[in-house]
Amino acid sequence: MLVDMAVDNTSRIVVLGGTSGIGLAVAQRAARAGAAVTIGSRRPESLRQALDQLPTGVSGHVVDASSSESVAGFLDRVGEFDHFAYTAAENLTGAPLAAYTVAGAQAFFGLRLFHALDAVRLAVPHLPSSGSITLTSGTAAFKGGPGWTLGCAVSGAMVSVARSLAVELAPVRVNVVAPGVVRSPVWSSMTEEDREAMYAQVGAGLPLGRVAEPDDAAKAYLALMDQDYVTGAVSVVDGGTLVA
Ligand SMILES: NC(=O)c1ccc[n+]([C@@H]2O[C@H](COP(=O)([O-])OP(=O)(O)OC[C@H]3O[C@@H](n4cnc5c(N)ncnc54)[C@H](OP(=O)(O)O)[C@@H]3O)[C@@H](O)[C@H]2O)c1
Repeated sequence: MLVDMAVDNTSRIVVLGGTSGIGLAVAQRAARAGAAVTIGSRRPESLRQALDQLPTGVSGHVVDASSSESVAGFLDRVGEFDHFAYTAAENLTGAPLAAYTVAGAQAFFGLRLFHALDAVRLAVPHLPSSGSITLTSGTAAFKGGPGWTLGCAVSGAMVSVARSLAVELAPVRVNVVAPGVVRSPVWSSMTEEDREAMYAQVGAGLPLGRVAEPDDAAKAYLALMDQDYVTGAVSVVDGGTLVA
C-alpha cells in the first residue's frame, strides 16, 4: 500500500534556528502547507519578530542550541513531531589561514556541527520511524576559496554527518541542504554596502544570474521532508555555483 508522506496539515515540523533567513523561510513554507510548526532560537527579540511574520498557529520558544539542557527542554515542550530541520548558526565570516586559531575554529564549528549533532541526538526520541532530519551544509563543501577553509570544512563535515546518520538512524531519514550564497542576515557582519556588492558580484557569475533568496533554499528542506525515499542525500541549491 502506498502511504502519502507529504508535508501537509497532519505534519509536525520543528525548525531549530527558525527565526531568520533559511530557517524562517522553512517555517513559512511548512506553515503554508498546513503543518504544525514550532520554531526556536536564542534571542527572544528574534523569536517575537519571526512569530509576527509567520501565520497564526506557528509556535515558538527561546532555545540556546549551544546548551544540551536548553535544547532538551525545548524539544520536550514540543513533544512528538515528524520532521526536524536544523539551521541555527552565528554570522558567517571568512578569514585567511594566517588568522587561524584553534579556539576560533572550535567556535566556528560549535553551532554548525557539534551542537547540530547534539540537537539531532536529542531530537531522535521525538521522531517516528517515518520521520526525517534535515541538516544544513553549503556549496563550500565542494568548492573552496581564499578565506573559506573553515566554512568549507564545516560544510563538508555536515555532508558526511548526514551520510553516516542516514545509515545509523534508519529508517529515520537524514539529509542535508547545501545552499550557495543566500541573501540572509547570516552576512550581517558585513556592511550593507559590502553585502549588496557581494550579492551582485556573486550573482552575476552564476548561470541563474542571482544569489538565492531564503525561500529558494526552503523549498529544498520541504522537498526532503516530503520525499520519503531519499536519505543521506545532499540537495544543492546554488543557482549553478558548482557548475559555473
Ligand atoms: N546565507 C547563506 O548564504 C548560506 C550559505 C550556505 C550555508 N548557509 C548556512 O545555513 C545556515 C543558516 O543560515 P541563515 O542564512 O539562515 O542564517 P541566519 O539568517 O543568520 O539565521 C541563523 C539562525 O540561527 C539562530 N541562532 C543563532 N545562534 C543560536 C543559538 N545559540 N541557539 C539557537 N538559535 C541560534 C538565529 O537566531 P537568533 O537571532 O535568536 O540568534 C537565527 O534564527 C547556517 O549554518 C549557514 O552557515 C548559509
